Amino acid sequence: MSSPAITLTRHIMAKKTTAIPVADLALIMERIELAGKRIARELTVASLGGELGYTGDTNVQGEKVKKLDQWGNQVFLDAFEHGYPVCSLISEEMEEPHHYSSNCRENSYCVLYDPIDGSSNTDVNGSLGTIFAVRKRAAKHGKGIEDLLGPGSQQVVAGYIAYGPSTQLVYTAGAGVDIFTLDRSLGEFLLWKENVKTPAHGSTYAVNQGNAGKWHDGARKFLAHITSRKDKRTSYSLRYCGAFAADFHRLLLEGGIYLYPGEVSEGGKSKGKLRLMYETAPLSMLAEQAGGRGSTGKGRILEVVPSAIHDRLPVYIGSAEEVAMAEEFKVEG
Ligand code: F6P
Repeated sequence: MSSPAITLTRHIMAKKTTAIPVADLALIMERIELAGKRIARELTVASLGGELGYTGDTNVQGEKVKKLDQWGNQVFLDAFEHGYPVCSLISEEMEEPHHYSSNCRENSYCVLYDPIDGSSNTDVNGSLGTIFAVRKRAAKHGKGIEDLLGPGSQQVVAGYIAYGPSTQLVYTAGAGVDIFTLDRSLGEFLLWKENVKTPAHGSTYAVNQGNAGKWHDGARKFLAHITSRKDKRTSYSLRYCGAFAADFHRLLLEGGIYLYPGEVSEGGKSKGKLRLMYETAPLSMLAEQAGGRGSTGKGRILEVVPSAIHDRLPVYIGSAEEVAMAEEFKVEG
């Protein structure tokens, strides 16, 4: 079989309208690509090397840390050690941002990432992902991170790598969504699809339905509606694998909705699970670039201003029609 074999770098260099200069984009993506290749390689043999299971530590979110989470975080730290123009890293696995003052020059950036998304799948050979976003640092920024605490609309790049039967890198730099497949024999991500568009309506939904008892009434009603099978518009199939990027990947290509409703506390306040800055905002940028939507249930995720780097919130993401329908059901009150 023949293929035009367009590598990620070559494809980037041919882009005309990106949110940041193409040269910066190529340098940043080259590092992310390298981290993804290392993670993809390690995942194939992790079970044989004693790398599954927990470290015994708890992360900033109060969750038990998997060995692969910690290792994956280190892969990113290594990749950006000499990774100008990236001078800051924010990760699910680190309480505080990591700064490389030697990489700080006039135009510098922060990469925000979840190195191993869906880590409950690591020990059962399930699908996994790496989610990332890039934000521009303010000129002459100091040690603080105030300049990074803007809405997701300030992201200049967003994407993920999905580790399944094949490894695929999906990203946007504000000029459409492109997908690359890792050809292991060449060690290169090669173009598979460019300018991907999500169907306005899909036929699957993804959710941890076991949590329904903790949701707002509106979310339960929405679920009852999409599973009522009265007609075509209320007949959906459940597809949930427990890794946000992997579940999103299906929606990006085929349409539908992923939801992780908030857990309602006694005071009626709804608390989400997924992280805004390195999970829901990056995938919302991708969703919008593909013609879909990302919502908190009340409004656009890309307009939410974080109060801190590890903020969490409810998420409803995927096809424009299903996300609008969720909002109509007042899923978050
Ligand atoms: O936020 C981390 C994450 O693992 C997501 O990747 C995934 O969609 C979700 O949590 C799974 O949560 P649960 O195990 O509660 O279904």
